Amino acid sequence: MTSHSTLTLRPDPDGIARAARLLAQGQAVALPTETVYGLAADARNGEAVARIYEAKGRPAFNPLIVHLADAEAAARIGVFDEDALRLARAFWPGPLTLVVPLRDDAGIAGIVTAGLDSVGLRVPAHPVAHALLRAFDGSLAAPSANRSGRISPTTAAHVLDPDGGLSGRIAAVVDGGACPVGVESTIVGWREGEPLLLRPGGVPAEAIEAVLGRPLGRGADLAAPDAPGQLSSHYAPAASVRLDAAEAQPGETLIGFGPVAGDLSLSASGDLTEAAARLFDTLRAADRLGRPIAVAPVPRHGLGLAINDRLARAAAPR
Ligand code: TXA
Ligand code: MG
Repeated sequence: MTSHSTLTLRPDPDGIARAARLLAQGQAVALPTETVYGLAADARNGEAVARIYEAKGRPAFNPLIVHLADAEAAARIGVFDEDALRLARAFWPGPLTLVVPLRDDAGIAGIVTAGLDSVGLRVPAHPVAHALLRAFDGSLAAPSANRSGRISPTTAAHVLDPDGGLSGRIAAVVDGGACPVGVESTIVGWREGEPLLLRPGGVPAEAIEAVLGRPLGRGADLAAPDAPGQLSSHYAPAASVRLDAAEAQPGETLIGFGPVAGDLSLSASGDLTEAAARLFDTLRAADRLGRPIAVAPVPRHGLGLAINDRLARAAAPR
């Protein structure tokens, strides 16, 4: 990996134009989305996308989400049936990724889909991501802008964290402040016409089921291809993580929620939206204290499903 210094760009027209130019030259650039910071590269350029895998140290079999400026651009890459159209209309732009069949003439580099004949598509709602997609005028493959297996970044400072971040490994980061949603997009796919929740995320599963008019089946996230009941270690702090803790054991840092106060809290008022937005930042802050981490119970409805999914991965055996 070459070690150049990473530019921090402002989210103004000049910074966005510079980021678009770097992307057109095949560089990897981190950008804010409403969920987490993404590490973007031109989805049509296999070498550019390879820089993402290299910078993240990511296993090459993991497919990436393709980000587009609007649903029309998405329809040039994937095939949308009635269900997919309905979800795109209801939730785009926004924190929803749809895994749909890849069009033959999509022009996406094979490394993006890891050779699958399906593709994950998302139209982000963040104004900076949107402006950059417009300026670049193409499709951007972008996983979260963290080293593989580490905590996802929700600020530019997380992306550049000298301890395990991407500083010196990528061309630039566009600093758009803190990500408002704070957990990754919800991923929906289909198997034999049945809609599946592949990953809980920023759009609550209940909202998706309401639009589809039927329940979502549970599908395995390709990021966690383990035996049933097992979750792969992911979003892992350096310290051990214990879940559903009503109180701290001696020597632990307790992350609270609602009535469980803790040393730090995801949301003192028990608000799941606030807890999602603060989740990764709070895990980092707890990790910096250098003690084992315990986390209070968080309800499993709405955004709580995504929060519990990420916490379970953070706590999974390494
Ligand atoms: O919110 C987000 O989704 C963020 C921001 C940057 O947009 N991105 C993100 O990407 O979380 P990433 O790479 O960390 O997660 C991508 C996941 C893969 O692990 C896989 O589970 C799923 O998306 N995925 C992508 N393409 C797929 C496909 N063709 N079939 C099944 N799953 C797919
Ligand atoms: Mg990720």
